[in-house]
Amino acid sequence: MPVEAPTFVQNVKKNINNTMKLDTILETEYTELQKAITDGKHEYHCFYIATINNEIPKLRTVVLRALNKDENTLSFHTDLRSNKIKEIQLNKNVSALFYDKKRRIQIRMQGIAKLDQNSNRLKKIWSFMRPESKLCYMGPFAPGERLDQFQPNLPNHNAQSITSQSNKKGYENFCRITIYLQNLDWLQLEHSGHKRIHFSFDKDSKSIWIAS
Ligand SMILES: Cc1cc2nc3c(=O)[nH]c(=O)nc-3n(C[C@H](O)[C@H](O)[C@H](O)COP(=O)(O)O)c2cc1C
Repeated sequence: MPVEAPTFVQNVKKNINNTMKLDTILETEYTELQKAITDGKHEYHCFYIATINNEIPKLRTVVLRALNKDENTLSFHTDLRSNKIKEIQLNKNVSALFYDKKRRIQIRMQGIAKLDQNSNRLKKIWSFMRPESKLCYMGPFAPGERLDQFQPNLPNHNAQSITSQSNKKGYENFCRITIYLQNLDWLQLEHSGHKRIHFSFDKDSKSIWIAS
């Protein structure tokens, strides 16, 4: 007759199984985020990023450009002249929000934003960027700048005739923000009861079920 393991051993096993199950859920979300980088139709391709401006939260949509699941980071591209950069320079705390309607999953993240500007990595990204996308960084106005009347914020040439001067100017405005995730709140809507997990990524990173 098999001898039953002591209660504390059973509990340790239960905890290990639970953690493994939760980690599989995180792994799935990271896989979906990875797919979303190149799939413009993926629900996670765009997300919302919140910064703080004098205690007032500011939100905007951005496109997911990179994910590093080992470092728990994600990145987006933006214009160095934009308000979000000024806000991040004053307060590095940001929140990111994704929602996958089809799978009814919301992921909310909190993290620290880091600016990458004129680095080797950025030069490489810029050199591979489509000319049409480069145009977004070549406009004469800083995003958010006041205009007396509508004017397209585009250079006076098209994507096929980018001059080296315009290319240089665009590159100077181009930057990348990487968010170093501190925690992630996963929520799955279900009729039988919504499921919610809190993942934290500090040195004693853990994953726990929380009430929805
Ligand atoms: C679908 C969509 C995708 C966008 N992607 C980006 C992006 O990747 N980077 C970016 O800087 N702005 C993007 N924008 C514009 C921003 O939402 C925002 O209007 C702009 O960056 C100015 O924001 P700020 O004044 O808060 O800095 C996107 C807007 C939409 C609607």
